[in-house]
Amino acid sequence: MRQKSSQDIDKPGTRPGERVPLGEDYFCSREQVDRYHTLSRSPLRYLVTNVVRCVQKKKVGPGCVLDIGSGTGRFLLSLGKKLSHQNKLIGIDISREMVKKALEEVKKSNSINLPEFHAASADCLPFRDAAFDLIISSYSLHQWAHPERVFNEVHRVLNKGGAFLIRDGKRPPPTLFWRFLLGIASKMTGLNNWQRLNWYKAVEACYTVDEIKDILEHSQFTSWKVYSDLVFFELCIEGTKT
Ligand SMILES: C[S@@+](CC[C@H](N)C(=O)[O-])C[C@H]1O[C@@H](n2cnc3c(N)ncnc32)[C@H](O)[C@@H]1O
Repeated sequence: MRQKSSQDIDKPGTRPGERVPLGEDYFCSREQVDRYHTLSRSPLRYLVTNVVRCVQKKKVGPGCVLDIGSGTGRFLLSLGKKLSHQNKLIGIDISREMVKKALEEVKKSNSINLPEFHAASADCLPFRDAAFDLIISSYSLHQWAHPERVFNEVHRVLNKGGAFLIRDGKRPPPTLFWRFLLGIASKMTGLNNWQRLNWYKAVEACYTVDEIKDILEHSQFTSWKVYSDLVFFELCIEGTKT
């Protein structure tokens, strides 16, 4: 086996347990988008149902809601059925193919509160300051190349008193116990080989609670909390603009 060179040691993900970035362009082809769409209908869809429930508990007022990394639109399309039709729902995604798919899903939806979807990057949001009352994001954070810039953009486009709620996976420690647990979880949810491989890649790209705390400490937000939920697999990040 080739010995690790000093160049390898400097590459992210080469030390045990270190984050392995996935890349923001991971879902740029139609094939990846369609595969993701199928995955998002597997039992893993429970994760999004859970986020919708958390948002509902926040008792959202009739303002504008932004979903960052909206993917195929499943989150805003579910939320649209629960929130008042006065809420304007906007999703942005860096992948044009994801936005295309989300717009196809809008056409099939019977919700009265239909979201808009646009192609844009989270670290340069195409909106005026204080345009939103609630910003949400589900399972996208692990792909952001510059999460610190995204948090500052979220701060800029949030209204004073507005809230953000982000859910993503959490990178577990590199122990056999956690590998075993992940293996069991992927078997229980009936994932096929492609889905399992992609799930593992996504998990390796996820942040830890401490990494996100460090990013938020250096952001413009002063009121936030980061914790882990759902049998410790999930990272929950919430805050308000004071
Ligand atoms: C795993 S998918 C999750 C999609 C959706 N939120 C869901 O729960 O089904 C992550 C999404 O984030 C998008 N994404 C990654 N980096 C982004 C960025 N910097 N700005 C906007 N979207 C981004 C990807 O294109 C992808 O559609």
